[in-house]
Amino acid sequence: MAHSLYQRDLISINDLSLEQVKTILETAKKLKQKPDTQALQNKIIANCFFEPSTRTRLSFESAALRLGGKVTGFTSDGDLSIQKGETLRDTIRVISDYADLLVIRHPREGAARLAAEASDKPVINAGDGANQHPSQALVDLFTMEECQNKLNGLSIALVGDLKYGRTIHSLTQACMLFDMRFYFVSPEGLTLPDAIADHLKKNGVRFSFHQTLEEVIPKVDIIYLTRLQKERLDEAEYQLVKNKYTLTAGLLSQAKSNLKVLHPLPRVDEMDTSIDKTPFAYYFQQAANGVFVRQALLTLLLNEKSS
Ligand code: CP
Repeated sequence: MAHSLYQRDLISINDLSLEQVKTILETAKKLKQKPDTQALQNKIIANCFFEPSTRTRLSFESAALRLGGKVTGFTSDGDLSIQKGETLRDTIRVISDYADLLVIRHPREGAARLAAEASDKPVINAGDGANQHPSQALVDLFTMEECQNKLNGLSIALVGDLKYGRTIHSLTQACMLFDMRFYFVSPEGLTLPDAIADHLKKNGVRFSFHQTLEEVIPKVDIIYLTRLQKERLDEAEYQLVKNKYTLTAGLLSQAKSNLKVLHPLPRVDEMDTSIDKTPFAYYFQQAANGVFVRQALLTLLLNEKSS
């Protein structure tokens, strides 16, 4: 019998059970230890990116190529027949006949769900507006487990734009599957959406809200920093909150010795390069792990038998 991830879409992290998350993380670990160059032979991945990306697009591409697959796609809608008035639904419907799996990033919330409805082939949401970025959440979980040797029992500070940060939305929901304690640090106007906070509360997750980094640094195992989403804020809102949280190496003098700093990247002003050379920095390893986790996803979604 095929495993439960075969030919599935991944649109929201809430689509996955604890067992499925564990299967993805274990498969990623195996692929990191022992590369597989065959799993995607004769498969074509369509990278459909309607918004800029460095890590997500290129790590999906690298993952597919290293597994023996091929990649097609685009990095904006500038050259698509969308310019002639074609709908997103028709565009995706057509591409789904040209590829075995579609990865889509789009500025509009809900666009990935619409794409999954239009496509006969599995669709992975690579970020839809301020909504979800589930493959990033899996990369984050994989990296947390790698750098702390556990997931249950971790204390995590989530810092920055918690309102529009899709990586935050997916990650907090993924972490609900484990026993974790959250410290949410953000400017007043950019706090976690009520719907997500209510969801956490209903599921018995321990969390608190804070406005300064200093008060949480000594308590946590992970600081997960995020950039202010300038493209999703109006100029007045942005000017009010920019430079509010900048993590520097000096601020980490009170940190626990096992602390690791993660960031989905790109960084702008919120994380000083002075952290790069400290033992706390783990964000470049996190970005590198993107390839293994996305290899795991592609392998599981496109192969009936898991290895
Ligand atoms: N982490 C992340 O989504 O980065 P990109 O926007 O560069 O893909």
